[in-house]
Amino acid sequence: MAVDSQTIRFFLGEELQEVHDLDTNTTVLNYLRLLAGRRGAKEGCAEGDCGACTVVVGRPVSDQVEYRAVNACIQLLPTLDGCQLLTVEDIRSSTGELHPVQQALLNRNGTQCGFCTPGIVMSLLALSQQMGPSSAYERRLALVGNLCRCTGYGPILDAAEDIVDKVEDTPKQSWQTPAWNRLKHTTPLSLKVAEKQFFAPQSVQELIQLLDEFPGSTLLAGGTDIGLWVTKQQQELDTIIYLGNIAELQETTFGQEVLTIGATATYQSALPLITEHLPALGVLIERIGSVQIRNVGTIGGNIANGSPIGDMPPPLIALNATLYLQSSSGQRSMPLEDFFIEYGKQARRPGEFVEKIGIPSPPKHSLFNVYKVSKRFDQDISAVCGAFHVQLDARPDEGREPLIVSARICFGGMAGTPARARYVEQSLQGNRWNEVTIKKAQVLMDQDYAPITDMRASATYRLQVAKNLLRRFYLESYVGRGTARIDRQQVVSR
Ligand SMILES: Cc1cc2nc3c(=O)[nH]c(=O)nc-3n(C[C@H](O)[C@H](O)[C@H](O)COP(=O)(O)OP(=O)(O)OC[C@H]3O[C@@H](n4cnc5c(N)ncnc54)[C@H](O)[C@@H]3O)c2cc1C
Ligand code: FES
Ligand code: FES
Repeated sequence: MAVDSQTIRFFLGEELQEVHDLDTNTTVLNYLRLLAGRRGAKEGCAEGDCGACTVVVGRPVSDQVEYRAVNACIQLLPTLDGCQLLTVEDIRSSTGELHPVQQALLNRNGTQCGFCTPGIVMSLLALSQQMGPSSAYERRLALVGNLCRCTGYGPILDAAEDIVDKVEDTPKQSWQTPAWNRLKHTTPLSLKVAEKQFFAPQSVQELIQLLDEFPGSTLLAGGTDIGLWVTKQQQELDTIIYLGNIAELQETTFGQEVLTIGATATYQSALPLITEHLPALGVLIERIGSVQIRNVGTIGGNIANGSPIGDMPPPLIALNATLYLQSSSGQRSMPLEDFFIEYGKQARRPGEFVEKIGIPSPPKHSLFNVYKVSKRFDQDISAVCGAFHVQLDARPDEGREPLIVSARICFGGMAGTPARARYVEQSLQGNRWNEVTIKKAQVLMDQDYAPITDMRASATYRLQVAKNLLRRFYLESYVGRGTARIDRQQVVSR
């Protein structure tokens, strides 16, 4: 049975929820705690940082349902339409037995203040459902978005290790079942509650029509920026167009030496192909927010948001990426760097949306890396993010000092927009890839940038870091000379 387009329908645990007439800006967390009487998920920060509100959302991806941990505090309820929401209350067994995740936390003394524990349980539940055996690194990564202020993470990580082989693989659920069919709409979700509207188009064509009709609407992708406008800035979003149901915008593909990332591909969904083709970029993505953020946050959202400290623009500009925009007037493209005009101003016209990003494969003998410098290693915003891409005329480890054919260097956190280091690039080009060249180029950072001092870093620190990163990039390129540690993922050199 298909359902009408004015009702939000989802499963809360196994129970079908039908929601009408609810403020379209309501967060999932407020729904759970204030309306559904489920208070297991807690509000710690209301900005996606602490993980106390972590829940698991099952979302149809292709024909199957994919379960992911997300932050309920910054996700808007209408985005759950067609999904299943699991909270800590759902994992209690009817006989009162603890779930293996809960039992493991108990056995290892991993339960502490009780405020954060429900979120930790849900993160571990998602981890156990997604993978078979996990490495210590993967388990740490899964818990980065759950802050605990009272004690160490040791017992929690021990519990994580215990559950890996204890929780049976959850069989993949098909979306094509009578139960899930009850959630499908005949026409896309279209809500009007008081003065607020929420649309969830299912195709690019529908999106274009909606944008023509409501040019001032807010385009909502993962909501990891927008959620905070609601919870922290107390903004009322009148007309929202949700992009998460448009399959055409979610694809990540590789063909004809171009890696193409759909605007609404989440970090997590794009990661495997990105890591395959540009390992250093994959390493950076694993430092964006937390698993909860990466499960819903999109690369298109990071670009469209236009923040000078967004992590994706510097590496994508260094890699010479092309941005594709679309509207009822058709498609247009531009070098990504041209999108960022000045602080708070991007080259997006009214009625336009970001469609995709194309990244050409680095040419032969290229080196590429990107470094994120932040106060905390995990779950922090960059003070400086530097991306380096140089093409040489030979591999650096072939016995002679190669010539630099071209250089593209871009920094975030050094100006009002992500900005290239033009003077540094010019001084590198045509010279030998050696200490002398690097030393000369380092000085020119002073001409390229006049960064500000703010709570993340001082101007002096930022400039020094930028110079040091150039040197680090150089040192890391010399495999086998003992000058620096070389990780598998650091260098693209064919
Ligand atoms: C706890 C936390 C940690 C974070 N950590 C990091 C970090 O480490 N590094 C980092 O760079 N960012 C970080 N962020 C910021 C955020 O997660 C990213 O910017 C993310 O990529 C935004 O994507 P989204 O899909 O959630 O965007 P949304 O919040 O949905 O949208 C962001 C903006 O982009 C617009 N938009 C979205 N998609 C499109 C489109 N296709 N076309 C046109 N406009 C569009 C929206 O209208 C809005 O203006 C963090 C955020 C949180 C809450
Ligand atoms: S309440 Fe802190 S992440 Fe949601
Ligand atoms: S478990 Fe809540 S502060 Fe440590």
